[in-house]
Amino acid sequence: MRYGHFDESNKEYVVTRPDTPAPWCNYLGSVEYGAIISNNAAGYSFVKSGASGRIIRFRFNSASNDQPGRYIYLRDNSDGDYWSGSWQPVCKDLDTYGSECRHGTAYTVIKSQYRNIETSTAYFVPMDKYYEVWQLKIKNTGLSARELSLFGMVEFTNHDHYENDTVNLQYSQFISKTYFKGDHILQVINENGSEASSDVEGSCDVMGEPGCRFFGVAGAEVSAFDGERDAFLGAYRTYGNPKAVEKGKCSNTPAYNCNSCGALQIDLTLKPGEEREIVFLLGAGNEEVASQVINSYKAALSGGSDLAGLQLNELKTLWHSRLENLQISTPDRNFDNMVNMWNAYQCFITFLWSRAASFQYCGLRNGLGYRDTVQDIQGIIHLDCNLARERLSLMLSAQVSNGGGLPLVKFNHIPGKEVTPDESEYSKKTGQSFYRADDALWLFPTVMTYIKESGQWNFIDEVIPYADKGEASVYAHLKQAIQFNLDRQGSHGFPAGLFADWNDCLRLGTKGESMFVAFQLYYALSIFKDFAQRKDEPEDAAWAGSHMSRLDNAFENYAWEDDQYVRGFTEAGYTIGSKNNKEANIWLNPQTWSVISGAAGGEKARLALDQVYNKLNTKYGAMLFYPAFKEFGLPVARMILFNEGTKENAGIFSQPQGWLILAETMVGNGNRAYEYFNEINPAAMNEHAEIRYLEPYVHGQATEGVDTLNHGRSHVHWLTGTASTVMVSIVNGILGLQPQYEGININPCIPSSWSSFTIKKIFRGKLLDIQVDNSAGMEKGVKHLIVNGKTIAGCYVDYSELAERNSILVVMG
Ligand code: NOJ
Repeated sequence: MRYGHFDESNKEYVVTRPDTPAPWCNYLGSVEYGAIISNNAAGYSFVKSGASGRIIRFRFNSASNDQPGRYIYLRDNSDGDYWSGSWQPVCKDLDTYGSECRHGTAYTVIKSQYRNIETSTAYFVPMDKYYEVWQLKIKNTGLSARELSLFGMVEFTNHDHYENDTVNLQYSQFISKTYFKGDHILQVINENGSEASSDVEGSCDVMGEPGCRFFGVAGAEVSAFDGERDAFLGAYRTYGNPKAVEKGKCSNTPAYNCNSCGALQIDLTLKPGEEREIVFLLGAGNEEVASQVINSYKAALSGGSDLAGLQLNELKTLWHSRLENLQISTPDRNFDNMVNMWNAYQCFITFLWSRAASFQYCGLRNGLGYRDTVQDIQGIIHLDCNLARERLSLMLSAQVSNGGGLPLVKFNHIPGKEVTPDESEYSKKTGQSFYRADDALWLFPTVMTYIKESGQWNFIDEVIPYADKGEASVYAHLKQAIQFNLDRQGSHGFPAGLFADWNDCLRLGTKGESMFVAFQLYYALSIFKDFAQRKDEPEDAAWAGSHMSRLDNAFENYAWEDDQYVRGFTEAGYTIGSKNNKEANIWLNPQTWSVISGAAGGEKARLALDQVYNKLNTKYGAMLFYPAFKEFGLPVARMILFNEGTKENAGIFSQPQGWLILAETMVGNGNRAYEYFNEINPAAMNEHAEIRYLEPYVHGQATEGVDTLNHGRSHVHWLTGTASTVMVSIVNGILGLQPQYEGININPCIPSSWSSFTIKKIFRGKLLDIQVDNSAGMEKGVKHLIVNGKTIAGCYVDYSELAERNSILVVMG
């Protein structure tokens, strides 16, 4: 069943049926002021942190799963009939109520048509601003004049901190007041002085400023208000039938010791054909800030200028220009859609918000997870090198001087001054007490990709502090990351799995060994060896090479079983992922990473990937392993806690699908890589939303495997490393865009049925206008290139060949 479609030319997804299986969301704003909004206007907003800067409420996991939000009610005063500008919360019968939601780049427009009244509300956070705009256009499309009342409404939190607001009611109910200020409701929290932020827990020596929020309107007079939620809704009512709307009159009740809200009533008459624009404004700030903001829109509206419209266009221009750096046109529109817009946009959103704020993450992880963040960077390098470098430097500065990564990098991270997981204080501050084995190893592909995309080889020598003490060049940071794993090994000579490797449920400890980390380490060594050779450091290159040879032998002797790699070894010597095991006897990640790392080539790579295809693949992607853990409880394999077929217990975890696609392209299987991509392509599930549930334009964290009641249902939208792994697999693997130190390889690995396609890529500021000719029906293999008229054998273009604009023909064969 479909609920909408893609509008490629406007870079929007259009929801045409509002009763989507789950809320289908979008992100607004920046890390300074962020917001998430569903196709029914539900969601929340926050300043800086989803956990401790929450300004409006959203009820996670509530019955409708989609309330409350940013609501505009409309009432026909001739007969009292009322509806809302978004289908929820009033939910008029869809036979008489028309609805459309357009999710675009950092904005969402929700339209309604009901009884000859049309509304269109654009929700967005203007660039570099700390408030949000709901730009409402309302039009009477009928033949008679209409007497209407509008009610803009939002439920404020009483406390910035999400948990305090939700559960600590004996406190949070009694600190908030609201005032009506003519054109806005002002909420004041801790009017007599707020809790001071202090290093001494519970210290109250210095009082901070009160916290203020506002909800205001420009373009119309306010005729009545409510600042108290229950006065607006009425007792024993819901958002679907607020008393104020039913009666047609807000009660002018401010809040004092109860739940605050901003509800503003506007009465207006609309002549036939008449259209009005009204702008609601919501933000954090005191009366002065509120007035400044509201007055700027009032002035624009009365002067006839479209400030909100201009701001919206500014946002579109910024976002579209970011996406312009890679645009493709292939025979598959769903594929193009993801690359040109949605997967790229999701990479940016995940990069910006990490795992902080969604309809599943409520923001309580107050910092950046090391592995997630370093991987997220990879998803945007080809689109915004500078942003990538900035975050990469931050993450290098969150590496401990022993080489490991800080599991959680606090938002107020201070390089050189942080405590580490070796100290109990770190656990007190972050709730994390141990090192992960894989964290710093993600730096290798990320640093390499950054250097090759940007051409900034000198980054390798940049001196960056460690998190706890000292400083070193990026090169030395990387060497130390390798040392961290070499210092922590088990009896087969593979790295220990420590608190976890990529798989959060595998707790292999200081002696149990992880093959995932072993392959990551192998890959890290090969990248480092390459760096060492380029820097003319032969001893380092030999050191890396000797560890690679040692690992090669260990892989051969202990990790390879006929046609597959095992997943690891427990401290007691049990082999995880052995084909002799009753449960979990074939795992996805060691097979793909054996190929990605370069450790497995030729026959072994082919056999390992065939095992995946034959034993793990489903029509919705490959399962993480199979069969699920059910009876065999391994203390180190905590995924048994999940129902079979779910998440890490034989679910189809989405992030590793990107590695699978990449691995297949590395061995030249374009058809299979594309088949895997299609199985997990959200856009390909647009017609089957009732199965997938999640937004058909974004990847989710996991899809249910074959053992569940809902095979194919995806969970945990938006903020997932899948965005970056799939992006990398497409850009680097399928499209074959592989920047090198002094040039670029263009070496696609595609379905043989694609006879041609085009790519526009900006590479170090130069335009590459690429046309791929695959009339030979290949999956991989480039005969020659024609670069600006010059024929070059193979797939490599040296940078010296490139002009500002380049026409490149890639002839496969
Ligand atoms: C979710 C985490 O964010 C990701 O880093 C991890 O690798 C997966 N869980 C798998 O356990």
